[in-house]
Amino acid sequence: MLHLIFCFALILQSSTKAQITEPAKTTISATRKRFFDFTEVEENAEAFIINDFEFIFVYQRLTAAKAYLECIDRYYGHLAILDDTYLQDEVARALSETRLLFDTLWIGARMKPGLDQWWWGNESRFTEQLNQTFIDKFEYVTYPPDIDPPLGIKAAKRECLGFGRRNHVTPQFRPLNCKVERSYICQRPKSFKEANSTHKDWIKVHNRLYKIYYDQVDWTLAYLWCYRKDPQADLAYIPDYETSQIIGRHLLIGRPSLENAWIGAKWKRDAYVFVDERVALSNTSDDSGYPPWRNGTIRKTNGCVLLDRHLSNITLFVPTSCRRVRPIICSKLDVREKKDYWDIIIGEFGYRIYFSKKSWENAKAKCEEDGKGRLIEANKTEHILNLLYIMGENKTAVQHIWLAGRYDMLQDPPVWTWVYSKEKIVKLNWWQNTTYTEAVERANVCLNMDRENHIEATHYGTRCSFEQSFVCLWPAEQLKHKIRTEKEIRTTPALDDTFR
Ligand SMILES: *[C@@H]1O[C@H](CO)[C@@H](O)[C@H](O)[C@H]1NC(C)=O
Ligand SMILES: *[C@@H]1O[C@H](CO)[C@@H](O)[C@H](O)[C@H]1NC(C)=O
Ligand SMILES: *[C@@H]1O[C@H](CO)[C@@H](O)[C@H](O)[C@H]1NC(C)=O
Ligand SMILES: *[C@@H]1O[C@H](CO)[C@@H](O)[C@H](O)[C@H]1NC(C)=O
Ligand SMILES: *[C@@H]1O[C@H](CO)[C@@H](O)[C@H](O)[C@H]1NC(C)=O
Ligand SMILES: *[C@@H]1O[C@H](CO)[C@@H](O)[C@H](O)[C@H]1NC(C)=O
Ligand SMILES: *[C@@H]1O[C@H](CO)[C@@H](O)[C@H](O)[C@H]1NC(C)=O
Ligand SMILES: *[C@@H]1O[C@H](CO)[C@@H](O)[C@H](O)[C@H]1NC(C)=O
Ligand SMILES: *[C@@H]1O[C@H](CO)[C@@H](O)[C@H](O)[C@H]1NC(C)=O
Repeated sequence: MLHLIFCFALILQSSTKAQITEPAKTTISATRKRFFDFTEVEENAEAFIINDFEFIFVYQRLTAAKAYLECIDRYYGHLAILDDTYLQDEVARALSETRLLFDTLWIGARMKPGLDQWWWGNESRFTEQLNQTFIDKFEYVTYPPDIDPPLGIKAAKRECLGFGRRNHVTPQFRPLNCKVERSYICQRPKSFKEANSTHKDWIKVHNRLYKIYYDQVDWTLAYLWCYRKDPQADLAYIPDYETSQIIGRHLLIGRPSLENAWIGAKWKRDAYVFVDERVALSNTSDDSGYPPWRNGTIRKTNGCVLLDRHLSNITLFVPTSCRRVRPIICSKLDVREKKDYWDIIIGEFGYRIYFSKKSWENAKAKCEEDGKGRLIEANKTEHILNLLYIMGENKTAVQHIWLAGRYDMLQDPPVWTWVYSKEKIVKLNWWQNTTYTEAVERANVCLNMDRENHIEATHYGTRCSFEQSFVCLWPAEQLKHKIRTEKEIRTTPALDDTFR
């Protein structure tokens, strides 16, 4: 009993944080033999297999709606459908071996909106109605007939279903208000497990994840292979030299170690192209060494591209016949990578607001990274208004941003100038700068825009080394194009187009 209380205390304590602390885990595994073969999916998620499915306990408290989305987005599964007693018993047993002993976890059943019926499934697909015998076993606070329940509790809507354990390992179903935050159970097909791959986990390089499979297939099958293994993955996209070398190294250090493997590039009309990303490769390597063609240039056309580490001391892109059978490298974007910007298209302008803060110089460089973006020359009233909307009324509120203006001290007298067009800055609603001495002015030469009283703009020069948010500008079409390439929206090109 003492021991139980100890566990409880640990769990209560840790429940105030999203993640469960290590001691609880140690306590439990030290005192119970674990019968299920759990694998740690992430720091706060562990998985086990029952029949053809992998079930994942995720120790992060979310509303039912968010848990539902996280299952899809993060684990490529769905909230667990526990529609048979064997599953229910097994999951309850597994639960008893985790740090979540006493928790309620969201599963994939809910009241159909507007109806007084419980269904397995989700808003987009309800699969099976729960029968009354089952619903009668639900556990929730009820008041006996002679006590009038408090209004709030009487009106409580319990429309989402939680799963827990009663006594030792008896499954219990607990209807709850969908808005309360609970951990959850995701479910996905077992075959998702990475059979025949050279590394246990995905290999992360920048914002992409890679996986190498040692099965040998021709390029066409390799192309289908990746998204059959994982709907989010494609035959590998290798966007730069560094990535090619890192993945080359992993070909070597994996088990088994491999000499080469297919990546997603194939000859199309007049260039090698990463098919899914629609990125055409140059015929010759650039100064960075990319694409890493042998001897810096393509020799063969009409082939498919292998990433090959054994022909030289650097890893190369080697065009070869698409019919050869070779291992496969898949890749996908790391969805866990937090996007630190937000795009807004307004009319002919494409704005990208960055939440990560940078000095003026670094902000400018970030905007210009692709050669086409710019810090904003707010030389039109329209820009100022758009910026106010973006800063104050859209996704996130931002107080200060950098603009592309500088106090140009090389001119006599010094003058505020737009850095790209070199135009003098004329009509901005400047902060009264009468109190400024020339010395103050000279130390504050980068143009800042502030939002005051919700939607009033003020502009003034400030220290360039301050780190603050910024907005970059592209012509709308260019930003849209950029978004498309970044997202790498899967296009399923007509077969004859892809495999010609
Ligand atoms: C809803 O759940 C089903 C499983 O019952 C799943 O296959 C489907 O992908 C889910 N819908 C969405 C939009 O995720
Ligand atoms: C109701 O559902 C439970 C569990 O899903 C099942 O065991 C039971 O046989 C069902 N009862 C009826 C009458 O269909
Ligand atoms: C793994 O490779 C073996 C042969 O090496 C093959 O028979 C098997 O189907 C592969 N498994 C998967 C899941 O691809
Ligand atoms: C690349 O090489 C192919 C075949 O030699 C040629 O048709 C194509 O025009 C070249 N592309 C460029 C941009 O030079
Ligand atoms: C690349 O250049 C080396 C010498 O610099 C030469 O021996 C080799 O044959 C060349 N490889 C190809 C594929 O042309
Ligand atoms: C690879 O070898 C060549 C000559 O064989 C050498 O010039 C080059 O520096 C080497 N590159 C690396 C990355 O070791
Ligand atoms: C306004 O800025 C844009 C680019 O930022 C520039 O092309 C244009 O010439 C400027 N217009 C005026 C009137 O200064
Ligand atoms: C932000 O602005 C864009 C463009 O007007 C709009 O489509 C989007 O819905 C807005 N987002 C929010 C959260 O207001
Ligand atoms: C701010 O004051 C300084 C010094 O009085 C003056 O030279 C400068 O033009 C003023 N700046 C603006 C933007 O009005």
